[in-house]
Amino acid sequence: MNIEKVLVIGAGQMGSGIAQVAAQAGLQVYLYDIHRAAVTKGRQRIEKSLSKFVSKGKLREDEKEAILARIQDSTSLEDAAHCQCVIEAAVEKMEIKKKIFQEVDQWAPQEAILASNTSSLPITALASYTERPDRVIGMHFMNPVPVMRLVEIIRGLATSDETYDAIANLTEKMGKVAVSCKDIPGFISNRVLQVMINEAIWCYYEGAATADGIDSIMKLGMNHPMGPLELADLIGLDTVLAILEVLQEGYGDPKYRPCPLLRQYVQAGYLGRKTGRGFYNYEA
Ligand code: 3HC
Repeated sequence: MNIEKVLVIGAGQMGSGIAQVAAQAGLQVYLYDIHRAAVTKGRQRIEKSLSKFVSKGKLREDEKEAILARIQDSTSLEDAAHCQCVIEAAVEKMEIKKKIFQEVDQWAPQEAILASNTSSLPITALASYTERPDRVIGMHFMNPVPVMRLVEIIRGLATSDETYDAIANLTEKMGKVAVSCKDIPGFISNRVLQVMINEAIWCYYEGAATADGIDSIMKLGMNHPMGPLELADLIGLDTVLAILEVLQEGYGDPKYRPCPLLRQYVQAGYLGRKTGRGFYNYEA
């Protein structure tokens, strides 16, 4: 199947990044969010990211304009009707994703693929909310999408080989590397990563070191590009908590128990970079 038009659902940090790399790959993109203001914000994020590439000499100004012109604002899921693929990047709440999948299943052409950028929710369950479980798949991008190379591809129980091949090809067209993974809680990326982040939060909670100290140890000692606490701030502490809860419920193992401090930060609205405060303060 040739995918030329995609609908990206959710214009937040992941959705806008996905829309950007899809448009960079030459695809026509509908960038959807419930409110027009959110779509506008997503578009601004894309412009900023593309400008970075222009300033680095990796992209010309006219190419940037052409990429932006391939992205159309959308506030209606009916736009799925024009697309061969839908990539959902809404918040990590099953109830919300369920509604989106049920609705988009009504509008998307019968042969279209419905992909989800979920970071840990079961693809098999998402597929069950549609009449096309063979054409539902996980397409898990990494943050920041424009620079990270991996896309973890998750096959639900019913996902067909044709769907997998089409999405692996699309991933490659976007300049990314597809790596396949089974539909297990947290997949591979978050099952491994979030345990490290949670452990770092426990260390901070216990007063073992400062946030900067913990991050410096992992950066200088392990050559990680970012420390676990600054990475948690980048991902969003609400997302980190949601993934740990999926892991804890999915495996029933106390090793995934979220640190109480993480829960408290989320309750306080300290969600990381996006709210200006997390383990670090970004309110300049
Ligand atoms: N758009 C365009 N370019 C961007 C960008 C963006 N949004 N963000 C960063 N860049 C570019 C910079 O311009 C720079 O380009 P250059 O190499 O040509 O100079 C390059 O990326 C590196 O950026 P910086 O110099 O500003 O900073 P760093 O060297 O620290 O790199 C980073 C930034 C790429 C984010 C790096 O710190 C990193 O790799 N961090 C780890 C990120 C990570 O682990 N992501 C996965 C999170 S888990 C996840 O997403 C799964 C989810 O389910 C939770």
